[in-house]
Amino acid sequence: MDSTRAPFPGHPGAARRVSDLLPVFPWDKLEPYKATAVAHPGGLCDFSVGTPVDPVPELIQKALAAHTDTPGYPTVWGPLELREAIAGWLRRRVGAGIGPQAVLPTVGSKELVAWLPTQLGLGPGDQVAYPRLAYPTYEVGARLCGAEPVEYDSVDELDGSRVRLIWVNSPSNPTGRVLGADELRRTVEWAREHRALLVSDECYLELGWEADPVSVLHPDVCGGSGDAAHEGLLAVHSLSKRSNLAGYRASFVAGDPVVVRELLGVRKHGGMIVPAPVQAATVAALADDAHVAEQRERYAARRSALRAALEAYGFRIEHSEASLYLWATQDRPCWETVAELAELGILVAPGDFYGPAGERFVRVAFTATDERVAAAVERLRAAR
Ligand SMILES: Cc1ncc(COP(=O)(O)O)c(C=O)c1O
Repeated sequence: MDSTRAPFPGHPGAARRVSDLLPVFPWDKLEPYKATAVAHPGGLCDFSVGTPVDPVPELIQKALAAHTDTPGYPTVWGPLELREAIAGWLRRRVGAGIGPQAVLPTVGSKELVAWLPTQLGLGPGDQVAYPRLAYPTYEVGARLCGAEPVEYDSVDELDGSRVRLIWVNSPSNPTGRVLGADELRRTVEWAREHRALLVSDECYLELGWEADPVSVLHPDVCGGSGDAAHEGLLAVHSLSKRSNLAGYRASFVAGDPVVVRELLGVRKHGGMIVPAPVQAATVAALADDAHVAEQRERYAARRSALRAALEAYGFRIEHSEASLYLWATQDRPCWETVAELAELGILVAPGDFYGPAGERFVRVAFTATDERVAAAVERLRAAR
């Protein structure tokens, strides 16, 4: 090969490689600790990733199976039945005064988080703000479009002339913290004053334990019902956690109908389509609250068993009033804790994956089976 010629796009040395703009994928750093934990004679207790392990509820599997014969292209917006199901769920469970014109299905919420700034035309010179401790994809989304990622604890730290999009995430990944209606309202007011789009990632909204999470689309936060009350606001929801549907990629965004329309147009060009069987499964899942209550019971039991065992072992738990995580610390560097727990066959996520502010915490996801949770509880007890 002639080495003086320019490399192919995507090859190392290419003039612009998108991967060069992105952070290092952190999970690779956990691999050696995973190897240690897997070698434990009792096997791995994996609390590192918040991925559901319980079965997909039968009514959802049936809805999917009943729609396998779908040879034609589905639409990006989905059938009215799907949009009615989404809007109906938002009214019933979230208290939002919203109709089907203001919702849009997405292919899992992670893709939306990563591509929203790009799809809204943000770029160099713009800032995308997100909480100091946060799901890493908010930063990725900013970097993908060339915008500047900025972290905040309070909106008062932000430059209102530059922030074009601000993320909130309540209940939070990784801390499980819930923002009250007053706090959310203040952020809404700030965003409106500065004409920044406020996007609220609410994928753990139905997983409150010691707090009742509230949506940015609730009238107590946004000031009312209907399209005008939702101006400048979007809420992002996912069925991955509440319905054990991470494998289906079922989610949606809702709020300001003008922004929803714009996204719809862009995403039509991009072919970002939820498969028809998943659209049907989503309708079934959103109509049923019983399976969510059942799944909550499972998580509540795992959460309290793990929480008690971690505290007895010497951990302090902060926040964690909602979501699928315990935000735990031994008041020392997170990687020391990761290493110590790996020796017990227990794998957790180091807090610095979610920003330097997490460097003395670990995130313990209670998305493991009852049997694995019981094994970890016993190991923590025996090692005390
Ligand atoms: C805060 C937050 N947002 C979005 C997602 C993405 O969820 P999904 O793509 O499965 O809808 C996750 C997944 O863990 C998350 O924790």
